[in-house]
Amino acid sequence: MRVLLAGATGYIGAAVLRELLSQHHEVLALVRPGRALTPGLEPGVTRIEADITHDAEWVSRLPPVEAVISCLASRSGAPRDAREVEYEANCQLLDYAERVGARHFVLLSAICVQKPRLAFQREKLKFEARLHDSPVPGTIIRATAFFRSLVGQFERVRAGKPFLLFGSGHLTACKPISDSDLARFIVTQLDASPSGTVMRPIGGPGPALTPQDQGRMLCKALDKPFRTTSLPPEMFDWLRWLLSPLALISRRMSDRLEFLRIAKFYATESMLCWDDSAQRYDAEATPEFGEDTLADFYEKLSAGKVLIPERGEHSLF
Ligand SMILES: NC(=O)c1ccc[n+]([C@@H]2O[C@H](COP(=O)([O-])OP(=O)(O)OC[C@H]3O[C@@H](n4cnc5c(N)ncnc54)[C@H](OP(=O)(O)O)[C@@H]3O)[C@@H](O)[C@H]2O)c1
Repeated sequence: MRVLLAGATGYIGAAVLRELLSQHHEVLALVRPGRALTPGLEPGVTRIEADITHDAEWVSRLPPVEAVISCLASRSGAPRDAREVEYEANCQLLDYAERVGARHFVLLSAICVQKPRLAFQREKLKFEARLHDSPVPGTIIRATAFFRSLVGQFERVRAGKPFLLFGSGHLTACKPISDSDLARFIVTQLDASPSGTVMRPIGGPGPALTPQDQGRMLCKALDKPFRTTSLPPEMFDWLRWLLSPLALISRRMSDRLEFLRIAKFYATESMLCWDDSAQRYDAEATPEFGEDTLADFYEKLSAGKVLIPERGEHSLF
């Protein structure tokens, strides 16, 4: 199948590209000018360079495709970037899919949009709604936490420092999923022919893990005693309160405030399906996929068999 992949230079997009190629799909990868694809994958791919958020002509360089997969994501989560990438760039992709009569639009979204409090979540939801209204059938994949989001304390624990927790370390939980398992799940969607737009929340193999569980696993993998330091999640509100006057005069500072909102959100909200009637997260109801476990991943990191994934602008610790 000929597939247009957007976001192939990102963490999940790169894994999706590898999976598409291994399943012998014909891939057109839409990348920003000068951005490199994962070494070794270039030969099998038609690379189309375009700054999709600013270049209105990019569409003219594309032949028709049968499916579009979007793994685009705002790298900063700042409100303007979120609007340009999560909503506007995805709308451009969908316009193209509609024009060429694509049979399927697969969108990588996030399970956290169930409780939209952040700018990037609202932009994602706006686009999800646009996809629902489109004549092109769609699959919206709302993924739980990636392994990459759970490696931030690897170096500090290896250096013998305590694992940092918010509150008791049981405030939240998730079913972490590896990049390759999620990529397989995404590419598998191409076999389906939905008649409208379907929603697929997805996590990795259970059980759901709290930050306490993750800290224990990390310490075990690094052969360190499990020592913790507890931080109050309210610290992000206090920082926001202190910095908010500066946000009135500086966009950079107002972006910082959004980052603090994001940090507070992830310190206090689970990446599991939300049961609105019971007003709680439901681990049982959160579907699972794949075989890779976080414990094995920590063991491999510790043994130097895999590298710590690049964490970019979203990293907190
Ligand atoms: N982190 C988690 O635990 C988690 C959990 C569930 C769901 N998700 C969701 O999964 C999705 C993908 O995440 P990821 O970690 O793979 O993202 P990522 O590594 O940050 O990759 C983002 C991709 O979007 C592209 N992009 C960003 N800004 C762009 C722009 N202005 N114009 C064109 N392309 C642009 C990037 O291209 P460049 O290389 O050119 O920057 C890159 O290919 C996101 O929607 C995220 O919300 C994340």
